[in-house]
Amino acid sequence: MLDVTDLRVELMTERGVVKAVDGVSFSIESGETVTIIGESGSGKSTTAMGVLRLLPDDEAAVSGKIVIDGHDVVGNPRAAARLRGDKVVLIPQDPMTALSPVHTIGGQLGEAVRLRDPSLSRKAAADRAADLLGQVGIPDPRRQLGRHPHQLSGGMLQRVLIAIALAGRLRLLVADEPTSALDVTVQAAILDLLLRLQEETGMGILMITHDLGVARLVSDRVHVMKDGRFVESGEVEQIVDEPREDYTRSLLSAVPRFR
Ligand SMILES: Nc1ncnc2c1ncn2[C@@H]1O[C@H](COP(=O)(O)OP(=O)(O)OP(=O)(O)O)[C@@H](O)[C@H]1O
Ligand SMILES: [Mg+2]
Repeated sequence: MLDVTDLRVELMTERGVVKAVDGVSFSIESGETVTIIGESGSGKSTTAMGVLRLLPDDEAAVSGKIVIDGHDVVGNPRAAARLRGDKVVLIPQDPMTALSPVHTIGGQLGEAVRLRDPSLSRKAAADRAADLLGQVGIPDPRRQLGRHPHQLSGGMLQRVLIAIALAGRLRLLVADEPTSALDVTVQAAILDLLLRLQEETGMGILMITHDLGVARLVSDRVHVMKDGRFVESGEVEQIVDEPREDYTRSLLSAVPRFR
């Protein structure tokens, strides 16, 4: 589903060039969840944005090899644009910025539905939108269609983004700290929902988090990131129970253990 080889991302900043991602390689099969964990500034979001080719050319130089669902998105950036919003979806760090503040939930979700199936009437698209909101556990979906993003809580907005993801033929979901802004019970519900959808659809998930509890719950494999590189990679049990690197150990000791 995703094959990344020697990915490098150089950011053009006011202070000069920053090597935010400095040669990382990883892959994700269908139905698999791979997690990147690391301290703030280690390059996690830049990796996610680089893989999906969401960084503007004048702000970032991306090199290496990225193949998404058989498409080379480094050689052919337009392939990435075609994949995004249909087969590949990003749930960004802040759900509020991912939605338009001036359009209704129904308008934005309906647009995603009609992108997937342009022959649908407005009425049929609204029905499908309400159906999707119901699938992600939003109560009273009909009524939510007419509301604007600022009228919904962070947890509800996360669900709307997941519903938008479901409107396409989702193969790969990239979730950048999807639950960091949420309280613990909502966090658990969102992670549950993602795992259930993964079971139903066989999608691959790239999970970005600084929370080892989240990593432990959802991951098949974990890459530990520091200063743009992976310092340790392995099965989640190995990383959490028998970390080889001091850096991983310091991440582990920074969070409460629940076992
Ligand atoms: N727009 C930008 N301008 C300048 N530097 C940036 C920009 N975005 C990221 N960086 C730098 O690139 C590096 C990686 O940042 P990135 O946002 O990928 O980290 P992160 O692991 O996602 O952190 P966090 O856990 O805080 O979200 C950092 O050194 C950061 O300062
Ligand atoms: Mg980040």
